[in-house]
Amino acid sequence: MKVLVTGGAGYIGSHTTLSLLELGHDVVVLDNLCNSSAESLRRVQEISGRNVEFRQVDLLDVEALDAVLAEFQFDAVIHFAGLKAVGESVENPLAYYQNNVVGTLNLLHGMDRAGVRTLVFSSSATVYGASEQVPLHEDEPLNATNPYGRTKEQIEDILTDLGAADPRWRVALLRYFNPAGAHASGRIGEDPRGVPNNLLPFVAQVAVDRREKVTVFGADYPTPDGTGIRDYIHVVDLAVGHIAALEFLTSRNGVFRWNLGTGRGSSVLEVIEAFSEAAGKKIKYEFADRRPGDAAISYADPAAAQDELGWSADKTLAQMCEDQWRWQRKNPLGYSEVG
Ligand code: NAD
Ligand code: WQD
Repeated sequence: MKVLVTGGAGYIGSHTTLSLLELGHDVVVLDNLCNSSAESLRRVQEISGRNVEFRQVDLLDVEALDAVLAEFQFDAVIHFAGLKAVGESVENPLAYYQNNVVGTLNLLHGMDRAGVRTLVFSSSATVYGASEQVPLHEDEPLNATNPYGRTKEQIEDILTDLGAADPRWRVALLRYFNPAGAHASGRIGEDPRGVPNNLLPFVAQVAVDRREKVTVFGADYPTPDGTGIRDYIHVVDLAVGHIAALEFLTSRNGVFRWNLGTGRGSSVLEVIEAFSEAAGKKIKYEFADRRPGDAAISYADPAAAQDELGWSADKTLAQMCEDQWRWQRKNPLGYSEVG
């Protein structure tokens, strides 16, 4: 298949591009590099020994977007491009609605004009909001609690309406839980700009002495050790999940939604412990107040993806930490330290 990957230079996009190439698909990446570096794609080519066409294009630039859709005959699009920082979305909601919702509308119009109507979309477990009906099933009502999450919910609605209006569309809405880890080569991984918002990259930066200690947000949750529980999923398992969804859509019209998670929860302290084990060193942490908006417990019911896609996330928390540590240790400053 010839696949357009929007946001393909980013964390999950670069790993998915690599998996696509390894399976023999042809990939064109469209990314404006607002939160990534083209170095990730150079390394994806190096690991796979295959070429990736790259177009530095913003989804808000309709003309440039249409030019890419006209240049190639795509079979499908995997759509990662978007802004993803919850706190930033609260401070600057218009930028999030503009980039994520308008960017996606531009993409959908362009795809329709080009006659490409197969799409895999990066949704998020964030659409479940603070629901603690664990394990979270796809039928759980959506109730995002911040502008970022609402962009995902709105895009899910838009795609559901589109599929109902035009049965030629084939759409997978993939609700990721907490992506973590890196490719086993240690050559590609997550490279957050500024202070990481997410737990794993923060812990990794403490382990590599870029930061002094981890702040654990809340020690008084109703969980066995008092810290928040999440469903961490290895980014390579996640990448493979996209390809399973793409394959499913080759024979099915309609709009489908799947949780991509492991179905297992780990607490913040368990993550710090697993990372200490992988890095072979103690990781300093201190307790602080809960972070506003955080749920106590969130983990997936992954049965639907398992039954319908034949996919499951098998890599353990220990593997995520080992791989993330290898990436961080080899690239302490991420891609800015080119090598
Ligand atoms: P990322 O920031 O590493 O990747 C997103 C990519 O999109 C970046 O390379 C960025 O430059 C690009 N981009 C953003 N806006 C663009 C635009 N207007 N035009 C072109 N390119 C644009 O993030 P990621 O962690 O790889 O996440 C990928 C997708 O998965 C996002 O949509 C995110 O919301 C979603 N998601 C991420 C997580 C997570 O925790 N990482 C969890 C659930 C869902
Ligand atoms: C995990 C746990 C924190 C940082 C977010 C988005 C969600 C999705 C994934 C995109 C929680 C605790 C964290 C730290 C900590 N992204 N924590 N100290 O909040 O589950 O989900 O990323 O779609 O939309 O909301 O992930 O990694 O931020 O936090 O104690 O420095 O770690 O309280 O319990 P979260 P996270």
